[in-house]
Amino acid sequence: MGFCGCGKSTLAQSLAKISGSVVISSDIVRKGLAGIDCCQHHFEDTDQGIYSPEMTQNTYQAMYAQAEDALKEGYSVILDATFLKEHQRKQAEECARRNNAGFVILEVKLTPELAQKRLEKRLDKPSVSDGRWEVYLKQIKALEPLAVQPNHVIIDSSKSTDKQLLTYWNFLNPIKENEVVMPNFDVKDMSLAALGKKRVDWAGREMKTLSLIKERFEKEKPFKGIRIAACLHITTETANLGLVLKAGGADLTLCASNPLSTQDETAAALVEHGINTFAIHGENNESYYRHIAAALDAKPQLTVDDGADLVATLHSQRTELLNGILGGTEETTTGVIRLRALADSGKLRYPIIAVNDAKTKYMFDNRYGTGQSTLDGITRATNFLWASKTVVVVGYGWCGHGVAMRAKGMGAHIIVTEVDPVKALEAVMDGFSVMPMAEAAKLGDIFITVTGDKHVIDKDHFKVMKDGATLANSGHFNSEINIPALESLSCGKDTIRPSVEEYKMKDGRRIYLLGEGRLINLAAAEGHPAAVMDMSFANQALSLEYLVKNHTKLEKKVYAVPEEIDRAVAATKLASLNISIDTLSAEQIKYLSSWQEGT
Ligand SMILES: NC(=O)c1ccc[n+]([C@@H]2O[C@H](COP(=O)([O-])OP(=O)(O)OC[C@H]3O[C@@H](n4cnc5c(N)ncnc54)[C@H](O)[C@@H]3O)[C@@H](O)[C@H]2O)c1
Repeated sequence: MGFCGCGKSTLAQSLAKISGSVVISSDIVRKGLAGIDCCQHHFEDTDQGIYSPEMTQNTYQAMYAQAEDALKEGYSVILDATFLKEHQRKQAEECARRNNAGFVILEVKLTPELAQKRLEKRLDKPSVSDGRWEVYLKQIKALEPLAVQPNHVIIDSSKSTDKQLLTYWNFLNPIKENEVVMPNFDVKDMSLAALGKKRVDWAGREMKTLSLIKERFEKEKPFKGIRIAACLHITTETANLGLVLKAGGADLTLCASNPLSTQDETAAALVEHGINTFAIHGENNESYYRHIAAALDAKPQLTVDDGADLVATLHSQRTELLNGILGGTEETTTGVIRLRALADSGKLRYPIIAVNDAKTKYMFDNRYGTGQSTLDGITRATNFLWASKTVVVVGYGWCGHGVAMRAKGMGAHIIVTEVDPVKALEAVMDGFSVMPMAEAAKLGDIFITVTGDKHVIDKDHFKVMKDGATLANSGHFNSEINIPALESLSCGKDTIRPSVEEYKMKDGRRIYLLGEGRLINLAAAEGHPAAVMDMSFANQALSLEYLVKNHTKLEKKVYAVPEEIDRAVAATKLASLNISIDTLSAEQIKYLSSWQEGT
């Protein structure tokens, strides 16, 4: 389907070549019914003559009849028509179903400017189509928009359609056997799907808590008929969460929560698993937000966010969708801070569970996960030896703890900078040097920011850094290091190796920025190990289930993960590690809940 001039007939012919399908074109059928030479233009008003509503109705009926005949003979059929009206699309679908055929809507899109150029070009050439710019404008008005459905695929005919078609054809085959419903997607390369599936399976082996939840969800289907939009790092661990939600009956759409963290093979594997996926590694800002918009186009009832970009977009640009949302979850510290600010301003429009604040999340994911994977990212980017290096850890929260602990274990000298006196004192007691950044800047070999704050390494700090100082961020956004200030001080920039940019200072020093200042553990490595994401995502899955069951009782606030979920995740994780623990005796329960017994 698509407006005139968008390229659907060309596409239909290409698809017919790949698939051996029969193409039934409304232009040819219409002119055949009217007894007109199909290759001659027959310009008439949209509501007149061969374009009258009756003729259009007859044309579509004739197309369905021809399609039935072809399907009965075992052919696949491509119906090439505008399909502006919902009833026309429904009748086509019924025709397919009656004949046990799969059904997919390929919507061909092109910008109006390009469509106009194409229409003008073909005006004086023989063509079966009578499409003109004025007809195109009327079609835009007449279009009944498509209800969101999983078998609706958009093809951008300004790009290479052959590549897009090959990708889709790989999906159309299983549809014929009634197995797969084609998802919506925009990923880099579907040929990476087989590799991605292996990697997703590999991560899944370390995610035992999530597997147990999946087994239950498969039976209970807590998300049956529920649309979920999730903006998360598109990694193998997220893919496993996606499979759990899908097993629970969800209609899931995923988009990336960071332009550099997407694993393209994982994105392709997700599509092959039937999950709508919009994510391309290294995408620019425009594509990043277009993909968020695509996830919202699915009209979600539940949202899953990591950093709150999805929720912020909903509350600023897609407010018409807010009434349909039951609730949401947020994965990370920075997102929770943004959402609390939204709630405090009285503007949050649905309940959100702060998954980050579950003990089984931040004590493990932020500490052990970020600790290990941040060092992994820096090591992969630089191949540095940690032993003997002076590492400045900026922020001694949960992530800072993990990073400092692991760097110390590798033989580095650690300096911590903080603004919170309690955290600073803790760092001192943990055996680390603590000082202001103005001092630490002169001493560090490697700087790692994990504050969730802005410009914690700033212009004055760059000015006093050593030649060769290396900067990495593992906090959520790429604003912790003041990159524009670094650029203003430098007289040149060079990519030394993947994820390593050299900034040449005007005084001859060199400063290295890793991963464009974005989360280094995801930009240069694979993010947290699966075993730790197992707990974070178990909290996600169970919190989403909780929202489905309890949303009517919840207010428009940011909620903590219910204690029973946190404890259940810890107990299941222990069981999966074959570790059992003691339980309180009756005497101990009584003792711990009384005040009478003393020395
Ligand atoms: N890389 C990852 O995969 C990953 C994983 C989890 C969390 N995060 C992100 O990491 C960041 C930190 O998370 P957290 O859970 O450790 O948060 P936290 O609140 O526990 O710790 C942040 C610390 O930074 C300190 N801080 C703030 N401004 C500072 C400044 N100017 N100088 C020095 N210290 C400053 C705060 O006092 C606090 O102690 C957040 O942005 C979070 O979203 C990243």
